[in-house]
Amino acid sequence: MTRLDRYLSERENITRKEAKALIKAGKVKIDRETVLLSEYKLDEEASEVSIGERIIRYEKFVYIVMNKPSGVVCASEDKRDKTVFDILPEKLKRKGLFTAGRLDKDTTGLLIITNDGALSHRLLSPKHHVKKQYYIEGEGEAAENACERIKEGLSLGSLKLKPGELNIISSENEKTKALLTITEGKFHQVKRMMYEIGVEVTCLKRISFGNITLPEDLKEGQARLMSETEIKMLKA
Ligand code: URA
Repeated sequence: MTRLDRYLSERENITRKEAKALIKAGKVKIDRETVLLSEYKLDEEASEVSIGERIIRYEKFVYIVMNKPSGVVCASEDKRDKTVFDILPEKLKRKGLFTAGRLDKDTTGLLIITNDGALSHRLLSPKHHVKKQYYIEGEGEAAENACERIKEGLSLGSLKLKPGELNIISSENEKTKALLTITEGKFHQVKRMMYEIGVEVTCLKRISFGNITLPEDLKEGQARLMSETEIKMLKA
């Protein structure tokens, strides 16, 4: 929460006195309602702040990209472990955020955090075939026909998976490195798929989600707001 006059003065680079004058003159609206109090506490959840006709802040939805580190869980709260929300920088924290899908505690890489439920639903719905790519290291060597089996759609017990794409980087001396692209997000799906073709995953990192790839400048544990371009790509 920030006082409205302070917010305006910082945002618009004007003095507190000038900000107060604008507010008093009825020029400032929050979510389309005029606010006349300089000490009004601006809620992070407010979607729109305007001066006259000019919108100076519009933030109905936020889209955050995180390079998830190992050891934190994708849950809104957890008694034992730190969550991805606990490690968000203060300025990115708001109410109503959730992760678009989940990564296991020991999985690292690209995680999208948002409060846009409709988009998240679209990204995760199997109907939309949004591709997620994972980098894998594991123990064991991939079966001869692993790529074909994954391309046809593996069966995990009674569960028939949609076709995926496996690219083996190396598989020798009981060690495998590979890239796997899938369009679903079943529980432990990548680990189970790899196990099925002879590889026990020891390192799993998500490197892309739809059109978004893990930004190179984002170190493990870091998160930032997506750029306008990234948001457009995500929605495309
Ligand atoms: N598949 C897994 O097995 N784990 C993840 O975290 C993501 C996909």
